[in-house]
Amino acid sequence: MRLHGTQRVNEQGHLEIGGCDTISLAQEFGTPLYIMDEAHIREICRRYYLSFIQGMKNAEVIYASKAFSTLAMCRIVNQEGLGLDVVSGGELHTALQAEFPAERIYFHGNNKSAVELAMAIKAGVGRIVVDNFYEMSLLNELAEELHESVNILLRVTPGIEAHTHEYIQTGQIDSKFGFTLTNGTADRALDLALSSSNLVVKGIHAHIGSQIFELESFSHEVQIMIQYMADIHKRTGYLLEELNLGGGFGIYYASGDEPAQIEDYAKTVQNALENACQSYQFPIPKIIIEPGRSIVGTAGTTLYTIGSIKEIPGIRKYVAVDGGMADNPRPALYQARYEAVLANRAGEETAEEVSITGKCCESGDMLIWDINLPKVESGDLLAVSCTGAYNYSMSSNYNRLARPAVVLVEGGKGDVIVKRETYHDLLRNDVLPERLTHLPIASR
Ligand code: LLP
Repeated sequence: MRLHGTQRVNEQGHLEIGGCDTISLAQEFGTPLYIMDEAHIREICRRYYLSFIQGMKNAEVIYASKAFSTLAMCRIVNQEGLGLDVVSGGELHTALQAEFPAERIYFHGNNKSAVELAMAIKAGVGRIVVDNFYEMSLLNELAEELHESVNILLRVTPGIEAHTHEYIQTGQIDSKFGFTLTNGTADRALDLALSSSNLVVKGIHAHIGSQIFELESFSHEVQIMIQYMADIHKRTGYLLEELNLGGGFGIYYASGDEPAQIEDYAKTVQNALENACQSYQFPIPKIIIEPGRSIVGTAGTTLYTIGSIKEIPGIRKYVAVDGGMADNPRPALYQARYEAVLANRAGEETAEEVSITGKCCESGDMLIWDINLPKVESGDLLAVSCTGAYNYSMSSNYNRLARPAVVLVEGGKGDVIVKRETYHDLLRNDVLPERLTHLPIASR
């Protein structure tokens, strides 16, 4: 397993993260356990800050909180000087409860409800990214009722197909998101927005996909978007000042993944921007990017205890952990690959090939196929790396498994930032209707 952030193998041969021995973390907090490496998150935020916010003259970096949204995470992002992208009332609520400055929040989503939009207007979020005509008129009406003027970006689909899993591709024309750029829909949306009394169009937004390795995808996006901004200027005389390029910067999960460097990403965007603005004679707009996965992905590790081991001679050895698709649905959903190490014997040579399965009642509940580990025994601890993005945030209570705790580690200290769910939590919202409150009497 490649080590990330502050991960290291200590003198006892144990995996250590943030100066904490993972064996002690398992003893103190139990397993499965999400471990988030604070120093690593901050380092990545700083690299984004330096290369985009300081490196480019007019840029903002917005953390896409769908990747991992908790109060503590919102605090870190705020301290590091980044903004926040939210996609639901729940994510907005989390941000506001963390006292995240509303003016640095961007509100996304393809079907925001009236309640969510009103909540955003009242909170004074910085930008609402309008996705469709229904939302535009709803937002204008709500803003009118609340006597507010709302700053918006228009989400467009530029028709770029980034090379990534089809479920996480979003920029192509056949997409549920945004106004299509190539068939005149985006033009109509802009005209309508400009004539809407309570909306102020600040710019446009596109997101071309996720887990993207080829930086050319982003330069292509910049070129198409600047061309479009210049077209709008020519056609209407209206100057859009902001270009939000979405997120999508890819990370390392497993061998074979070759992500680019954040600094090169910034340079690519900057060069593409200068070139495009020059060719289309358009003033350089403010650039906004929305990384999610690349800020938290490699900073997360999930720690499991190994239980049952089933060997089918000549075929496969199944090693089961005490979690699975409920805490990490990505392998089942996207055939995502992960690396892992035995946390209590991290220094040992590998000795056998096994497959890691979860404890859910589904054959598809596999975490890792064909991984080399030292000879595995029940009771060993397995650490799966790069689980910081879209793991906790996509976790479920499938099979009524309680969600794991999340521990933030730093300088030898581990703090719970999300408590482990209990059986009590699982029943918190269950209600028995009156007719079921008496125990049944078998009468058949
Ligand atoms: N901005 C917008 C409008 C987005 O839709 C997304 C991700 C992002 C930013 C952040 O993208 P990132 O930098 O994290 O790639 N559940 C999937 C990923 C879905 C991404 C959805 N949108 C997964 O586990 O791979």
